[in-house]
Amino acid sequence: MDPKTSPTMLLALAAALSACSPSGDESSREMPMGGMMSDDMPMMERMPEWMMSNEDMSGAGMMQDMRSIQGLLTNHEKIERRVENIPNGVRTLTTSDDPEVVQLVRTHVRQMKARYERDQPIRMMDPVFRELFRNRDKASLTYEDIPGGIRATHTSDDPQVVLLIRQHARQFVSEAAEQGMRRAMRPTELPEGYHADAE
Ligand code: HEM
Repeated sequence: MDPKTSPTMLLALAAALSACSPSGDESSREMPMGGMMSDDMPMMERMPEWMMSNEDMSGAGMMQDMRSIQGLLTNHEKIERRVENIPNGVRTLTTSDDPEVVQLVRTHVRQMKARYERDQPIRMMDPVFRELFRNRDKASLTYEDIPGGIRATHTSDDPQVVLLIRQHARQFVSEAAEQGMRRAMRPTELPEGYHADAE
């Protein structure tokens, strides 16, 4: 299950953690590395400058968090997701038949919740992540281990933050579970109706 960590994989992972679009135009949004892509494993042509000065890559717990994220992305085909809207957000079920993947997803959710609590953002060049971390005080992320996975409940009393929560759950996590690294290397569009300046 644990794939060999090649330099290519490390570069892809750095891109997934940051998910930036160097020039911000439409074509580079689709291909932020300036050239990809096979099914799951992107091919790097050059190391982008932004990757060298990535604040995401340092700090407490980064290596552990990276390991779980890499495990999830490379095992994405073994992951099932269900997302249900509830009044102030979402309830999600993330499951797998593979016990090691179950462990990875449970660990990941705990690690990400801890990042909220420590205010230690990740993937800050993805606008949805940036806004979620900026509004972290207005959201509540709780979870419960269930057989074969985890149930997460992510809510907010602020309708603008609810938009972000739903966008993250469906347009990022569920798509990453479907597509793996290929999806993680692309940023996530802000949801329709979201005003980035909302306080
Ligand atoms: C197949 C890949 C992935 C899976 C299965 C996964 C799974 C999850 C789950 C179950 C949650 C709880 C909230 C929810 O269910 O919607 C979550 C939250 C989170 N994940 Fe992931 N994740 C994946 C990839 C990533 C990547 C690549 C990153 C960042 C580099 C990331 C960062 C986060 C953060 C920051 C949260 C907390 C924020 C929030 O819930 O809004 N995840 N993830």
